[in-house]
Amino acid sequence: MSSGKRVKIIIDGREVETVAGTLLIKAAEDAGIYIPRLCYHEGLRPDGNCRMCLVEVEGMRKPVPACMTPVKEGMVVKTDTPALREHRKKVLEFILTTHPMDCPICDQAGECVLQDYYFTYSLEDRRYKEERERKPKRVYWGKNLVYDAERCILCRRCVRFLDHVTKTGELGVFERGVHSYIGLFDGRKIENNYSGNLVDLCPVGAITDLDFRFKMRVWFLERTPSVCPFCARGCNIEIHTNTNPLTNRFSRQRVFRIKPRKNLQINRWWICDEGRYSYRFIDENRILRPMIKGRETTWEAVSKKLREIIGRDVRVYLSAWMSNEELVYWKRLADFLKWKASFVRKPDGDEDALLRVKDKNPNTLTCKILGLEEEGGQEEVAVVFHFPWAGEKHSFKIGIFTNSFEGMEEWDLILPAATFAEKEGHWTNFQGLIQKFHQALQPLGESREEGEIGEVFASAFGIHMPWEREAMEREFEKEHRKWSGK
Ligand code: SF4
Ligand code: SF4
Ligand code: FES
Repeated sequence: MSSGKRVKIIIDGREVETVAGTLLIKAAEDAGIYIPRLCYHEGLRPDGNCRMCLVEVEGMRKPVPACMTPVKEGMVVKTDTPALREHRKKVLEFILTTHPMDCPICDQAGECVLQDYYFTYSLEDRRYKEERERKPKRVYWGKNLVYDAERCILCRRCVRFLDHVTKTGELGVFERGVHSYIGLFDGRKIENNYSGNLVDLCPVGAITDLDFRFKMRVWFLERTPSVCPFCARGCNIEIHTNTNPLTNRFSRQRVFRIKPRKNLQINRWWICDEGRYSYRFIDENRILRPMIKGRETTWEAVSKKLREIIGRDVRVYLSAWMSNEELVYWKRLADFLKWKASFVRKPDGDEDALLRVKDKNPNTLTCKILGLEEEGGQEEVAVVFHFPWAGEKHSFKIGIFTNSFEGMEEWDLILPAATFAEKEGHWTNFQGLIQKFHQALQPLGESREEGEIGEVFASAFGIHMPWEREAMEREFEKEHRKWSGK
C-alpha cells in the first residue's frame, strides 16, 4: 500500500479509505467499484477527453470526470445514478454517430469496451441519420500495427503511450472536429521495441495486430498465466491458445498471441515486442521424437544408448532456460554421478530504459545461485541442454533440445524437450524474484519436460531418483533463502 496521508470518502454509500490525491476512478476501482472509462488507463497520464467516467460529487454543481478528480477527505460520490446513466448513453450515442458497424468482422469484438458499454448503457437506435464520415481504414503504422481511422474514438491512449512511456512520440492528432484522426508525424513509423502495447491499449478495434488479425475469434482462446522467457526481466504474460479442431482452422498453430499481465513490481502493464512476437518456436520446427544420429528412435532405445556413457568422462551443460526445479534435480543427478556441471545461455543482447535487460535468458540467476559456472571442458561426453554449440568440442554428444537445427545427424542422441508453454515451474528473474509459469499446452509429440528426461537418465543408470517437482521447488527455496540472506 502506498504511503501518504490517508483520507476517508464515501462512494455509493460505502466508506472507502485511500491515499489523499488518488484519482477517484482508481480509488473506486481499488474498492471494487468500477467506473466506466474510455480514455483513462491506469498506466497513462489522465487526459479527461471522453467524459465516460463522469460521477456526481456532493457539493459540486455538475458531474466531474472521475479520472481527473483527486480524492479529498469527506468526499461523497455517486457513480451510478439515472442521470449518469443517461449521460453515458449520450456519450455513446455521440461516438456512434461516426463509428462504423464493423463489429462482426472486427478483431476487437469480444474485448471491445465500446461494444460492452453500448450493451450496458444504450441499446438504442442511432438518431443521427447523416452519412458517416469516411476515413482511411487500413493504414500501416509499421511492424505489426494497422490503423482504422473510422473506428478510432480519439481517446489518445496511443499518443500518450508513445509520448510518455516509450518517449518516442511517433503519433499525433491531426485535423479538427469530425475530421480528426490519429496520424504519424512526417517520415515516422512505429518501430520502437514496445509497439504491440498499442493494440492492448486501444479500447476499440482501431489498432489491430497484423500478426493476429483475422486468425481467431477471441472467445475461442484459452488464457494461461505465464512468464516471458526472452530476457531476465521475467515480464508477466498470458499465453492465448486454441487446440480445439472445431474452432481452430490452423492444424499446426496452437499459440495465437501473447498478452501482458499486470505486475507493478516487474513489467507494470507492458511487454516488449520480442516477448510478444517470439512465440512461434512453440509450434514450429519442433523435435518430436528421440533421435540417434538423426534417425528417430524409441524411448527404450534411448535407455540402451544412455548406458554407453556409464563410467565415461561426462560434462553436463545445464541451461539458463531450465526451471529452478529442473536445475536443482539435474545438479543433484550430476553430483551423484560425479559429472562436471556448468551452464550455457543465450549471449547478451540489447537493453533499454523501460523493461528489456541485456541477459536474454529467464533463469541465469538460479544457475548462479546453485553455484554453476559458465564454462566448457574437454570431457569425452557432453550432455547439452538447449544450446547445441556447447557440444562442439566433445566426441560423444547427447542433446536435449526443443527445436530442430542443422547438423542434428552428428549427435549421438537427441531427446525432445517440452517448451516453457508445455510445462510448469519457476524462474528467478534478475531482481531475485521467483515467479511461477503455468502449463498452457500438452507437450508436442513425445517431447518431455527436462525433469522427466532426468528420470530417464537416472533409471537407465539404475538410480532411484524420481522427478518430484514440488520437492525440488522446496529445495530451491532453501538455496534462495541462503543466497538472499532472508
Ligand atoms: S487509435 Fe485507439 S488508442 Fe488511439 S486514439 Fe484511436 S481509439 Fe484511442
Ligand atoms: S522485456 Fe524481457 S521479459 Fe519482458 S517481454 Fe520483453 S523479452 Fe520478455
Ligand atoms: S475516462 Fe475519464 S474522461 Fe475519459
